[in-house]
Amino acid sequence: MSTLQAVTHVENIRYDQQVQALYIIDQTLLPNEEKVIPLRTAEEMYDAIRTLKVRGAPAIGICAAYCLYALARTIPEENGGAFLRRLESYGSYLNSSRPTAVNLSWAIGEMLRTARAHAGDPREALLEALWEKAKAIHEDDIEKCTRISEYGLSLVKDGDGILTHCNAGPLATSRYGTALGPILLGTERGLHFHVFADETRPLLQGARLTSYELQRAGVDVTLICDNMASIVMKNGWVQACFVGCDRVAANGDTANKIGTSGVAILARHYGIPFYVLGPTSTVDMACPDGDHIPIEERDREEIKTMWYEKPMALPEVKCYNPAFDVTDHELITGIVTEKGICRPPYSQSLAALFDNKQ
Ligand code: MRU
Repeated sequence: MSTLQAVTHVENIRYDQQVQALYIIDQTLLPNEEKVIPLRTAEEMYDAIRTLKVRGAPAIGICAAYCLYALARTIPEENGGAFLRRLESYGSYLNSSRPTAVNLSWAIGEMLRTARAHAGDPREALLEALWEKAKAIHEDDIEKCTRISEYGLSLVKDGDGILTHCNAGPLATSRYGTALGPILLGTERGLHFHVFADETRPLLQGARLTSYELQRAGVDVTLICDNMASIVMKNGWVQACFVGCDRVAANGDTANKIGTSGVAILARHYGIPFYVLGPTSTVDMACPDGDHIPIEERDREEIKTMWYEKPMALPEVKCYNPAFDVTDHELITGIVTEKGICRPPYSQSLAALFDNKQ
């Protein structure tokens, strides 16, 4: 396996049927340590999602699907109704771990729908149906990321500079990733890109994860602080911005990691195309616009103390720590999904993705 393949085939989430256990790579320890940890109880699963041990919209959806399968195996109730109620309560509990990425509720909804459809089956058949569903959600994401990568690759050319924010690579998804997908797929095909990775304060997904994945994959990556995006754009070093997404509303407004909307505003100023890449499982047609997307607020200590030896502000200093912001649809050049590239007006092009059942 090449070093690039080691990146694109990383087993960030793995359910081992032989020992009946769910494993993830603990992303909070990267890039210094690649450690695989088991998730055994509902509390461990909730904590892993909440504290970003597993993170990235598609990845938390996939993980939640396997979590529900693993938890279903532990439910003692034989009766279909009682079993369902217990599984639904696990689903609500996991769903409350993070509010913004719609993939979490989407995957939990898919698993619960499967459980309801098989509630009358013998226990082993019900568990088998849940296993098949979780596996399908995972395999489907691999397929979707590969298609997104192909579509995204058609938007750039050899030698281009690409700026990305946060981490939407293999660790956050499966296989090539979404925003990093075209870069990794292009690299595999012998193309060269210069990537600027925003460090992505306050949790540093860009520094810890994106630069780690790209460097290991042999991509020419330069890490910058978030407030340096403007200068690299002004210098003419960026031909396109690629970012992931946590929820795309029906009108194209897109929630992604905090700071993304600022990148989009800068890109518009400098006339650089700004693309959002994500699977249709991240598109929430029930959500009319960005004002209706719930935005997660996180602990202020992530800003003041988390990455420092000593606190970087007085204990009594107030902090505002939203984990996501919404990029206005008017700033987005295209939304790249596994079904194709949507262009404005998004209210029509996104709806068409679902109408056509492609
Ligand atoms: O808080 P995180 O690290 O889960 O946020 C992740 C992002 O915002 C990603 O850009 C997004 O989920 C897309 S992942 C393919």
